[in-house]
Amino acid sequence: MQKKILLDKALTANPSWKALETHQKKIAETSILTHFKNEPHRLDYTSFDWEDFYVDVSKNRIDQKGFELLIKLAEESGLSEAIKAQFSGAIINTTENRAVLHTALRTLKKDPILVDEKNILPEVEAAQKKMFDFCDKVISGDWKGYTGKSITHIVNIGIGGSDLGPAMVVEALAHYQNHLEVRFVSNVEGDHHVEVLKGLNPETTLFVIVSKTFTTQETLSNANSIREWFLKQAPKQGIAQHFVAVSTNLEKTQEFGIDPENTFPMNDWVGGRFSLWSTVGLSICLAVGPKHFKSLLEGAGKMDLHFSETPFEKNIPVVLALLSIWYNNLWGAESEAIIPYTQYLRNLPAYLQQGIMESNGKYVGRDGKPVDYQTGTIIWGASGTNAQHAFFQLIHQGTKLIPADFIGFKKSLNGNSDHQNKLLANFIAQTEALLAGKTEAQVMEELKKSGLSETEQKQRAPFKIFQGNKPTNTILIEQLTPKNLGALIALYEHKIFVQGILWNIYSYDQWGVELGKQLAKKVLNDIEGKEKNTHDTSTLNLLSKI
Ligand code: F6P
Repeated sequence: MQKKILLDKALTANPSWKALETHQKKIAETSILTHFKNEPHRLDYTSFDWEDFYVDVSKNRIDQKGFELLIKLAEESGLSEAIKAQFSGAIINTTENRAVLHTALRTLKKDPILVDEKNILPEVEAAQKKMFDFCDKVISGDWKGYTGKSITHIVNIGIGGSDLGPAMVVEALAHYQNHLEVRFVSNVEGDHHVEVLKGLNPETTLFVIVSKTFTTQETLSNANSIREWFLKQAPKQGIAQHFVAVSTNLEKTQEFGIDPENTFPMNDWVGGRFSLWSTVGLSICLAVGPKHFKSLLEGAGKMDLHFSETPFEKNIPVVLALLSIWYNNLWGAESEAIIPYTQYLRNLPAYLQQGIMESNGKYVGRDGKPVDYQTGTIIWGASGTNAQHAFFQLIHQGTKLIPADFIGFKKSLNGNSDHQNKLLANFIAQTEALLAGKTEAQVMEELKKSGLSETEQKQRAPFKIFQGNKPTNTILIEQLTPKNLGALIALYEHKIFVQGILWNIYSYDQWGVELGKQLAKKVLNDIEGKEKNTHDTSTLNLLSKI
């Protein structure tokens, strides 16, 4: 293993940890509304104006002292040095011996970034240029299929980071999309690609195979089946006009039959779940064109500058990460909800599930020993207002503590003020309701007007009380533009980084997904009758049912 760059210090070994524990106990019974009463200037340290973003974290179970202790904790954990190490290209992905440089793909600075003593920026620019030129050709119709027709449909074949990011962003930027229709196939289940191929004409369809490793079972199975489907209708030479690949593994892409000219390189210093900024974003770039793709990168680049240059107490990703640690490690919260108030971002929670849970779902600390505190929050959510009619009951009146991020946009994209006002009213009202709740006195007041008898009023009352005091963060953004989307995604990427540093874990490997992959190969041999492997009783029984 590579030498350790990051400090190796357990979360609980920081001097301010004990003080935080004591302080949490002291204020545990103080409501958020009481904090507002006690702190006339609370918004001064809990709200942040940055570019098109307004972030309000005032509705949290914390006071200024607690906030200051969290900032101290971040300082003690070596976060400043870690940020510098990441951005400079140090090998901070120790367990895979790699740098972590998705930030290099969108850097707004021109300073060289060295990997193996070589400046990688010229390479980044060259890969981007190749992608932009290609996208321009396809979008303009100059790129022709095997019968001379222009491309009308794109199919992205990938899984995990090679699918979730591109799929989420294409959906999020539908308003900016050109005439190309983009579809995504990821699951190994044969029905998925069959459904995706329905109605497609091979003469006008371009397949983008995205796999960092080019060894992923799902992606290669889908790519092979789709190639067969294509060759049933088209000549072999047609492959060159209809199949392109994105990968670090150029040997394997060639083996698959993809012309090196049609292969878009990516680098091992970009993790799969952080790769939409690279050539992995080819389908995004095809859907919205290079101009909007560049804006996406610019927004992320601006957030990188904010993150790397702003003092912790004003640093949005740092503050959000610390609050999350506050609830996770001191209040026993296990999950966080992410509620974007726009249908365009309905898949943001699914995208962030991989980003957050694959990165920080680790029980081994950087010292190689199990940590003795919780890491990795469980992420879930759906778009508002749909979510209000689905699972909000549990957030309002359930027994679990679920901190939630509310993400909203001031201006709608299509300018319908009636709908937008209603959307924003719900967006604001929900966080107010979660904060303030409804007291018994308020409930009784309402029930008095209901026509129910006094006994019935008393019986009904407990069910109508809302305890309130539920923590939320509000991320209010001007409008859903490519630039603001880039900044929003980068914000969560940096939140992941900060939490990994404080939890003293390695955020950029994903060994936890390997065992299942290995066993699936073995079980496949059992299913196909090629081997008879030993398994536990339950697994053998299940195999006998197939
Ligand atoms: O699920 C594990 C994983 O390695 C992810 O990290 C990655 O995004 C995905 O598989 C796909 O990998 P590849 O791009 O190499 O096909």
